[in-house]
Amino acid sequence: MKERYEALRAQLAEYFAAGRRSGYHNYFHIDMPFGLINDPNGLCEHEGYVYIFYQWNPFGCDHKTKHWGMVRTADFVNYSLPKIVLCPTDAFDKDGCYSGCGVSRADGIELIYTGNVKDENGARSSLQVMAKYKDGAAKKEKIIIDGQPDGYTAHFRDPFYLQKDGGEYIFIGAQSDELKGCIALYEKVGENWLYKGRLQTSFEDFGYMWECPNVLDFGEKQAVLFCPQGLCADGIKYNNAHQSGCAVGKLDMEKCAFSHGEFMELDNGFDFYAPQVFARGGEKILIGWGGMPDRDGDYPTDGEGWRFALTLPRVVTEKGGRLYQKPLAELLALRKEKRAVSVAEYGEIVLEKRCAELELEFDGYAAKVELCMGGEKITLAKADGLITLDRSLMTLGGRGRRSARLNEARLKLDIFIDRSMLEIYINDGASVMTAAYFPKAEEMTVKIYGRAKGFLYELSQINYRD
Ligand code: FRU
Repeated sequence: MKERYEALRAQLAEYFAAGRRSGYHNYFHIDMPFGLINDPNGLCEHEGYVYIFYQWNPFGCDHKTKHWGMVRTADFVNYSLPKIVLCPTDAFDKDGCYSGCGVSRADGIELIYTGNVKDENGARSSLQVMAKYKDGAAKKEKIIIDGQPDGYTAHFRDPFYLQKDGGEYIFIGAQSDELKGCIALYEKVGENWLYKGRLQTSFEDFGYMWECPNVLDFGEKQAVLFCPQGLCADGIKYNNAHQSGCAVGKLDMEKCAFSHGEFMELDNGFDFYAPQVFARGGEKILIGWGGMPDRDGDYPTDGEGWRFALTLPRVVTEKGGRLYQKPLAELLALRKEKRAVSVAEYGEIVLEKRCAELELEFDGYAAKVELCMGGEKITLAKADGLITLDRSLMTLGGRGRRSARLNEARLKLDIFIDRSMLEIYINDGASVMTAAYFPKAEEMTVKIYGRAKGFLYELSQINYRD
């Protein structure tokens, strides 16, 4: 076992020393040289660095042997080399160190995660484990919640820590005995975590499981984020295999209740799930998994030995009960050359290397952008108050269409184009659409239809070194 991890370390160092980012590997989205990466975990700021832990199977491109990997950064351009910090090698996490959170403490980062355990018949049990990350290594300390209380199945995972109104709480993604998605709440009393109750919401029958609960505390209001599984598609809503969204309202920790508005999807694209949020000073930052569970056929990179990426870090604000997401200001440092773009009716831009950001503001009614790669293309078009992202003309990976309702008549786009990830920020982050894409051709021609002005930036790559 030890040799296996040493070999892995050597392989990682060698990969990054050679500066290798080949094939569909992204230039400025975090992905792994090999294996499968999914949920961001343990996000926190600690001693001048932002720590990004994540689910990682370093040994294959399937959802097995989940470890926690980690990179840290002080500026979101330079990252440490990825390393493994939690291995599923104990009886209480033998089938995976599943998702969880990170809390910066005076003596290190407290990592709270789910130990996934299956018996010989595949029956699952879930434990919530606390570990401490300190001096470059994590030490598993204790099981803080053993199993689940009455009223829940063993689908009980993804602890999220929240300090609020003088108390310390853990939110856990859960499934009730009636097979309905919900959130279980724990409170710290002395040194123990005690079950406080099921978070009361007005979602009566909203999916069979809620994964990855998170809370954004805006002071007067809170947003509770979660990933409901089992919702039926409803027009332009809930079109992905599983959904990821939030509701905004007021949390009453004493009453274990959340009074809230409607459920809003956090991303209207194809490939976005299990986001995690953390606060850096007053700023709220979100990073998502730029992928989707149970859609294996959508991700054709197994032949390159890896799968999935994380989204860009986004700053989240709240206005009028709605969340806005913008790329983190530090990402401006990735911009290299700036080219003005001005289109009267139709214009074209050629990108030799897909590593760019395109800001465009349309005036007038017509607005369409086509990303053409050989005979393949992805279209983004405005019509009938909607913006629609269409990747049905792609050959490899996922296809289909997704739409978002525009919040105003104008259309302002900030499009990030990476090797196999697209992120489209619409009208100052009123909506975001994330899409993985796997074109056969290297070069991309961006075709713009309508009256638009803006800028094209060539971007630099993020770096990984210790
Ligand atoms: C969400 C999720 C979590 C779980 C983890 C396992 O994508 O299924 O519920 O903890 O991934 O990798």
